[in-house]
Amino acid sequence: MDSLFDVAEGGEDREERLAELARQVSVCTKCDLASTRTNTVFGSGDPYSPLMLVGEGPGENEDATGLPFVGRAGKLLDDILAAVNLTRDDVYLTNVVKCRATIEENGRVRNRQPRTAEINACNPYLRAQIEAIKPDIILCLGGPAAKTIIDRDFRITRDRGRWYEAFGAKAMATFHPAYVLRQHGDELKQTKRLVWKDIQAVHAEYLKAIEARRA
Ligand code: URA
Repeated sequence: MDSLFDVAEGGEDREERLAELARQVSVCTKCDLASTRTNTVFGSGDPYSPLMLVGEGPGENEDATGLPFVGRAGKLLDDILAAVNLTRDDVYLTNVVKCRATIEENGRVRNRQPRTAEINACNPYLRAQIEAIKPDIILCLGGPAAKTIIDRDFRITRDRGRWYEAFGAKAMATFHPAYVLRQHGDELKQTKRLVWKDIQAVHAEYLKAIEARRA
């Protein structure tokens, strides 16, 4: 593993732990999403990064590839990270649920939000990922991630952009890139401005965490 942090953090164990968790997730049948998935989507990026990003759950493209954030929302996420000179290889990226949640409407299969029971069933995997990675900062993308990680009563429009404590990390939530993509006109401008502000604050903490780990 080519990382700044692997030696100091006892790298082998962390990668083995994550590989074992990914294996468990790949055969998980704890909820009904197992019966409709193509692939589980465990996570990607640098498991030694001080920054973990948590989205909602895989969509169609992620289900097809087994990788998080590979669709349109993923492209926007890349742009958001690029605004602070980061790439998805600099962070660890995962989701609250590891399988695509779908609904059939008029003969078409569409994405839907994961249900509470599905989020709860998947929660031990997310917790175990956080425990293995030990991020200094967690950025929740959207309400479901913020409710799962920060506070069940979290309201994204009210509470985003503020720092909280969760799992021994500094945690913040911002709007989900898919939500940003659904905005238009002035709403779009305003939503983007807030997301860009949030990522700047996260980046400042990321730089501090890197400095602290080097010291
Ligand atoms: N939306 C998410 O929340 N996660 C993904 O991986 C893709 C889209």
